[in-house]
Amino acid sequence: MEGEAILLFLLFVFKSYAAELDSISDSKFLTDADTLVSATAIFELVFFQPGSSENRYLGIRYNKISERTVVWVANRDYPLLVGSRPMLKITDQGVLGLFDNSSLIWSSNITTSGNTTARLLDNGNLVVIDQQEKVLWQSFDYPTDTLLPGMKLGRDYTRSKKWYLSSWKSSQDPAPGELTWGPDTLGYPENKLKQGALVHFRDGPWRNRVFSGVSAYRKNLTFTHNVIINKSEVSFAYNFKDNSLLSRLTLNSSARLESWVWLENGTGWRISLSFPRDTCDRYNICNAYGICSLNQIQQSCICLDEKRFVPKKQMDWNRADWSGGCIRRTPLQCKSGSEGFIKYSNLKLPDTENTWFNMSMTLEECQRECLKNCTCMAYANPDSSLHGRGCLLWFNDLLDVRLLPEGSGDGEDIFVRMASSELDSESNFKIQGGANTKIIIPVTVAGVLLIGFISTCLCYSQRKRNQARPTGGDEILNDSKGQEEHMEQPLFSFSIIANATANFSHDNKLGEGGFGSVYKVIGMLEDGKEIAVKRLSMNSSQGVDEFKNEVICILKLQHRNLVKLLGCCIQRDEKLLIYEYLPNKSLDYFIFDKTQSVLLDWTKRLNIIKGIARGLVYLHQDSRLRIIHRDIKASNILLDQDMKPKISDFGLARSFGGNETQANTQRVVGTYGYMSPEYALDGLFSVKSDVFSFGVLVLEIVSGKRNRGIIDPENEYNLIGHVWSLYNEGRFMELIDNGCAESCHPSEVIRTINVGLLCVQQNAGDRPNMSSVVLVLDGEGELLQPKKPSFFMGSELPIRNFSSNVFTGGCTITMVEPR
Ligand SMILES: *[C@@H]1O[C@H](CO)[C@@H](O)[C@H](O)[C@H]1NC(C)=O
Ligand SMILES: *[C@@H]1O[C@H](CO)[C@@H](O)[C@H](O)[C@H]1NC(C)=O
Ligand SMILES: *[C@@H]1O[C@H](CO)[C@@H](O)[C@H](O)[C@H]1NC(C)=O
Repeated sequence: MEGEAILLFLLFVFKSYAAELDSISDSKFLTDADTLVSATAIFELVFFQPGSSENRYLGIRYNKISERTVVWVANRDYPLLVGSRPMLKITDQGVLGLFDNSSLIWSSNITTSGNTTARLLDNGNLVVIDQQEKVLWQSFDYPTDTLLPGMKLGRDYTRSKKWYLSSWKSSQDPAPGELTWGPDTLGYPENKLKQGALVHFRDGPWRNRVFSGVSAYRKNLTFTHNVIINKSEVSFAYNFKDNSLLSRLTLNSSARLESWVWLENGTGWRISLSFPRDTCDRYNICNAYGICSLNQIQQSCICLDEKRFVPKKQMDWNRADWSGGCIRRTPLQCKSGSEGFIKYSNLKLPDTENTWFNMSMTLEECQRECLKNCTCMAYANPDSSLHGRGCLLWFNDLLDVRLLPEGSGDGEDIFVRMASSELDSESNFKIQGGANTKIIIPVTVAGVLLIGFISTCLCYSQRKRNQARPTGGDEILNDSKGQEEHMEQPLFSFSIIANATANFSHDNKLGEGGFGSVYKVIGMLEDGKEIAVKRLSMNSSQGVDEFKNEVICILKLQHRNLVKLLGCCIQRDEKLLIYEYLPNKSLDYFIFDKTQSVLLDWTKRLNIIKGIARGLVYLHQDSRLRIIHRDIKASNILLDQDMKPKISDFGLARSFGGNETQANTQRVVGTYGYMSPEYALDGLFSVKSDVFSFGVLVLEIVSGKRNRGIIDPENEYNLIGHVWSLYNEGRFMELIDNGCAESCHPSEVIRTINVGLLCVQQNAGDRPNMSSVVLVLDGEGELLQPKKPSFFMGSELPIRNFSSNVFTGGCTITMVEPR
């Protein structure tokens, strides 16, 4: 007895010199000078002082690394005050107890009869084990603000225990703050970040491998999930694939979840992921049946389906107050046979608080189950990794839904209950336009700034060709795949644009064309710049995928003499194209107007001509796509604030393969007066048809007269014919527009007219290509003698029937072919 007392005394003396313990047992205890370290010394259990606080706590922290971050605290609520003399020991009941001057302030709280030992494991888990090494208690069951690999969140039904993180009150005070992170008690499990009862963020229904509903998560798969859902336990844990990495997930006191990784190269702790990531992660900002979508501008809400749902408070919704959410246009009746489901994809599944689930049901059984209960609003397979098994039913309005990037694999499908009258054959996210429609649209062009419709053929035909010639095709296909990923960037929000244009009101309209209307939008971009929005008419026969493809193609075209497409917006059957806004209207507004034309002196005109030529060189030769514009004309040349020209409207553009120089079309589209004869008559188009249109445009710019404006009533010549006769008589200078006559340099004028005439030669083979045009305009290339131009009249064209309303501005005729 005495010996034991001496031994204890000796131990005590020895330990006051700081000891490194490997366990705590009958004979070993921990004082505030000691540390208990794990086998490979990754973690240690010590008394520490948080921040500048004087209080001391017993906690687990990293041992080996320079930043000894605390990951667990025992006595969160019961700090050891200044002057305390703490001791951690195993009590007679086998409990691990923390004593301060012999009064118990914290304990492991599980009694046994036998001898126990406390150990700190290498994963940071402090365990109390019995002699059979059975774990009686573990710190992993009592998480604080940090989730370590292998630690669980969830519920243990057998021990009626909940595992969740709770933030520290502050960096000085590890007592539980208001914030928690873990699954709700009700419904299918998903983690929620809550402040009291208020939800800040949820990660979406648990899936075995990854969270659902968290954008960009999958790409960052440095760790794996382990989800257990059964009668006795619902739990979620993560493990790092690379065991040597130190990592932790913390809930900080400013309501953020942060995943940290230790980097040995001196960088220290680095955040690898942090939630909420963006405004759409904020809980339920779009309310019932609203979808949060994000673009480069900002977050916005749309109804789940703008056909079948309407904003509950339209006025508020228009003002970007989404709190009212959406409601079904046709309320549910819940008569048997009167209802069905519509599938929506790429979504973060709604809040699961009010749900029921059965993980062994099939989706068909799930649907039947949902129909049985009138309050069931939707069903889904909560975990697509379970091979189609699993049924999740929602019994309330669908809350906190967000759109996730298509193809990212982050989103899920959900089947939403609808009245039968809403169940047409149209599926929601793919609107098939009238595939058999044949639309013939004569269009007024004058004054329209942007007729920026993108060709229905541009990339589509490219793709078809690629299929026929697989060798050359790979590159382009891969290319477009690469671009697809950047599509996230240029997507704009429909509701924001709708708001900004006062629901596409007449006041904001800039012009109208056959494929839709153009609107001006101010202050949409972060720098407050204006944009022009082209709203394609709804009956456009183009599908969403084709449309996207084309946008991707056009986005690749970047040249200072091309109007820049900033992005697009696809929302159900609405398609918007977003362009840079050019304040100075189009070229025709200047050159054909007596008062405006004086603003364009000769130098400006020549620069415009050169700019257009350079834009065309880019389209024809330098761009990766090689594009024939097919509708070069004055109204498609926009001018920026410096009067620099930008080619717009790729509505009729065609991309062509590297070796191809000519193609044939069944449909002749384009504008009278600018069409080359071989194209207008035979449907043959090539880069040389663009060269022809360019030549006409050059002559128009120089003369200030429209090709189709009849100049020479006697001969019924058009402008080309008129120029040709003046050219032959050497009367160049008579051609010059009064607006610029004073400022012109005769030699430049002659050269320019000469170029114009070379471009409009009858024989396509005689016309120069655009790069030699640029050279000649710069005074470098050889100037040839033009041969007789084609100066047929529009009325000779076989397609004249389409143009009953011919007028001076010319006419765009487009036949949209059925596919
Ligand atoms: C553990 O502690 C809790 C609260 O401090 C108490 O309600 C419970 O009875 C304790 N359990 C045991 C086994 O001591
Ligand atoms: C879950 O679904 C399976 C298959 O339909 C069924 O056998 C089982 O009874 C269901 N469990 C519950 C709790 O409803
Ligand atoms: C429908 O589901 C709700 C929610 O689970 C439940 O309370 C209600 O009893 C069910 N009704 C029927 C008829 O099964």
